Amino acid sequence: MERKWWMEQIGYQIYPKSFKDTNNDGIGDIPGNIEKLDYLQELGVTLLWICPVYDSPMFDNGYDISNYEGIWPTFGTMEDMDTLIQEAKKRGISLMMDLVVNHCSDQHEWFQQAIKDKNSKYRNYFIFKKGIDGKLPCNWRSVFGGSVWEPVPGEEDTYYYHTFAKQQPDLNWECPELRQEIIDMINRWLERGITGYRVDAINFIKKGEFIDREPDGADGLANCFDLMRNVPGIEEFYAQLRHEAFDLHECATVSETVGVGYDIIDTVVGEKGCFSMMFDFNYTNLDVENEEYFRRRDWTVDEFKKAIYLSQKEIQKVGWSSPFFENHDLPRSIQKNIKDEEYQNEIGAKALGVLFFHLRGTPFIYQGQELGMPNAIRSSIDEFDDLNAHSMYQRSLQEGFSEEESLRFVNLRSRDNARTSMPWSNAPYGGFSSVEPWIKMNETYPTINVENQINDPNSVFSFYKQMIQLRKDNVETLVYGLFEEYDCGNQEVISYSRNGDKKFIILVNLSKEEQKINSVDGKIVLNNYDTFDNTLKPYQAIVVEA
Ligand code: GLC
Ligand code: CA
Repeated sequence: MERKWWMEQIGYQIYPKSFKDTNNDGIGDIPGNIEKLDYLQELGVTLLWICPVYDSPMFDNGYDISNYEGIWPTFGTMEDMDTLIQEAKKRGISLMMDLVVNHCSDQHEWFQQAIKDKNSKYRNYFIFKKGIDGKLPCNWRSVFGGSVWEPVPGEEDTYYYHTFAKQQPDLNWECPELRQEIIDMINRWLERGITGYRVDAINFIKKGEFIDREPDGADGLANCFDLMRNVPGIEEFYAQLRHEAFDLHECATVSETVGVGYDIIDTVVGEKGCFSMMFDFNYTNLDVENEEYFRRRDWTVDEFKKAIYLSQKEIQKVGWSSPFFENHDLPRSIQKNIKDEEYQNEIGAKALGVLFFHLRGTPFIYQGQELGMPNAIRSSIDEFDDLNAHSMYQRSLQEGFSEEESLRFVNLRSRDNARTSMPWSNAPYGGFSSVEPWIKMNETYPTINVENQINDPNSVFSFYKQMIQLRKDNVETLVYGLFEEYDCGNQEVISYSRNGDKKFIILVNLSKEEQKINSVDGKIVLNNYDTFDNTLKPYQAIVVEA
């Protein structure tokens, strides 16, 4: 495979609303990102993905964009953005923005024009349909609950389509003028100096036939992911994005492509694919079915292991991946991926770090993961901010679960878990702001914070720094080397190797039992315990240079 600059990077994701607040309104801002670039440099980050900072009414925290070429004033100005790009560059960090073009905000001028005037050219930028015999055009459930169809205000029996919330009307990619607007906008941003994009929900841009399905929930609606995403024909839209925008720049793109099967990843990555790399969700949603919080699954470590192996082997055949365990839509990994509560701590956080960070691809760390941040438990549904927490809570009540059970599901899965403010110190409000943050804080901040960890050689932060350094020192193997399953003589252990000019063996015990393994010849270069004696202790993880 041809080598590209973005393969060697160390990715880091910022949720700007919660990273650092500089003007003390309780909301993180772009100057806050600038202020903390030194921190990111200290950690070793080289590629930053910043969640949407565009102008937005913030129903979905910026994933509902009302102006693609404006900045949300609460975050700062376009000058702040330019400064961020320049200051990051000075520190060897390149910046990816979030490209959200499956939908925009219902406050976007295009949508406003489209509903004001049926004859406007913007009408075709969205998907409008008439009802059928007094019913909705079809009975699909939207990702955030309720129908995908919303009545158009002031028009009889007419609906517009939304994959996500009703404040996020889908853009009609079948319309060539719309596609051109998007392509031009992307090119303008890339010329401004950003290095690329994380590409939001992009596998939803082609819709299948709007047909009814057998309802599968108490809401009378049907989950129709197979008709909503990865629909054949989408590769034509991908090709246009690639050839008319991405390929014109030395840019890096990462796709959010949930539910993409390995039989079609060649449309996503690799020589023929649209994007530089992909986030593979096939191993991140094992704890629930259909991404619905109340459909809990009792996943096993073996399943997790096999899903990771499969992901690595399949993507390696075709292209490049971007290993990750956390993002702003997922709960914290120490709770999601560690079954034994007593190891949902620094040992567990480091074990998961070892597991994902040495996989083949460009790794992405989510803010706070490098501190081993846990979930933030809330005692009432009113304490949640995320619109999806509220709709999932309602859905589970509707499905017959009690309030207590429903609250537990939301606590386990809520996107708010990852969106709490970054704990910089044990000062009031964790040094994030001098006033109460916009979202209820994680109560662990007095102990789990940057100030406590940054100079402690045994902290999770220092462990991440070591992993990053190891990767930078062994590019031939830890970046370009192939992934292979490794037989350590114990099926309970997750073990793989990376093979380049050297060979590294990664051994991770995700259980509270000690696990015996065959002896391995070599030098231990990373270990989340002080010692190792051929038996992995509970949640012990080591990297051996063979
Ligand atoms: C993606 C984003 C998520 C957002 C959704 C709709 O999944 O990661 O935060 O709510 O798209 O834009
Ligand atoms: Ca602020």
